[in-house]
Amino acid sequence: MSSPAGPAPSAVAHETRARATLRRELQGLSAYPVTPPWPGIKLELMEDNLLDPAHATPEHIRLREVLAARVASAAFNRYPDPAAPRVKALLRERFAIGARWSLLLGNGSDELISLVTLATAGCGGTVIAPEPTFSVFRHAAIASGARFVGVALRTDFTLDVDGLLEAITCEQPKLVWIVYPNNPTGNLFSVEAIERVLAAAPGLVVIDEAYEPFAGGASFLPRLAEFPNLLVMRTLSKIGLAGVRLGYLVGDRAWLGPIDALRGPFNVGVLAQAAAEVLLEHYEVLAGHARAMVAGRDRLIEALGRLPGVTAFPSQANFVLARFPDAEAVFAALKVRGILVRNLSTSHPLMHNTLRLSVGTPDEVEALIAALAEILRR
Ligand SMILES: Cc1ncc(COP(=O)(O)O)c(C=O)c1O
Repeated sequence: MSSPAGPAPSAVAHETRARATLRRELQGLSAYPVTPPWPGIKLELMEDNLLDPAHATPEHIRLREVLAARVASAAFNRYPDPAAPRVKALLRERFAIGARWSLLLGNGSDELISLVTLATAGCGGTVIAPEPTFSVFRHAAIASGARFVGVALRTDFTLDVDGLLEAITCEQPKLVWIVYPNNPTGNLFSVEAIERVLAAAPGLVVIDEAYEPFAGGASFLPRLAEFPNLLVMRTLSKIGLAGVRLGYLVGDRAWLGPIDALRGPFNVGVLAQAAAEVLLEHYEVLAGHARAMVAGRDRLIEALGRLPGVTAFPSQANFVLARFPDAEAVFAALKVRGILVRNLSTSHPLMHNTLRLSVGTPDEVEALIAALAEILRR
């Protein structure tokens, strides 16, 4: 087809114009890797597998019926109320978030990571995070035109506090991310080390508590008032709502007001709000699943410890990081048996030969242990 101006431009012309126009730093950036739906046992992204229809209990069936009715009566022909008052009230009630603190909702905490980065370090500022950690921090920094500086953890996955403090002094970061417990290592960093980072950081420190439901109550939320530069971020993704997309940020208005100003006007949709309301109203179901996942995690760590050549690292999350003699081969052999986990071997030098194993249902945990035992016996 030709346009009124002449023949349609060739693919090369598109490529040339796009290269010349798009920001340079985007050229090396790719989208977060997401596997297409997996028909077997999926232990890849720390979802709540207990809520899969295949494991439905009478309680789950009732919950889905309530959900269906609420979604059916939702005003999906109208723009959502971005204030989401009912969702926020439920979050405040469930997680003891006092009226003193503001709440900002995001389309998953992924969106909040972008907004926080843009609001603080975007256009030339620096973001620091201990690494290995959640890769979206680096991605969001690059996308926002910020500089990202990763400070390696020690080999036992504790924070290298001296290294971090030195980087903070040299780089004067606008933003520091600390994941508590950390993904992908699963451990909680020392409270004292985090306090030193909070004291030294000249800008904002966000503690990402995505795995808080599995961490036995460890949280910086009750300590917000102690630090003028602290925000706490959480998500409902790890306790049953990964597909709904709802993250939240808690802290003082002085921070959240300007970050909120960057948000798209209707970022959390009517259906997401309706679903989050129903699930938060039935939070005891999700909390029960979190307890089951903690039991599954401990069972998995104990069983991995008995397998030849395997090191399972302590975890306070709903996944276990483990080192294998040949992680690539184990990953492939699990896949052949229908089990999908995350191979992190090439993601960071400290992750050499590691796989991250999400905790599934009790049966899935047993199937994983049996498959690993069989693979490693060969
Ligand atoms: C540490 C951490 N933060 C944030 C997220 C993203 O959560 P959400 O699903 O709310 O975007 C994840 C997801 O794996 C995570 O591990």
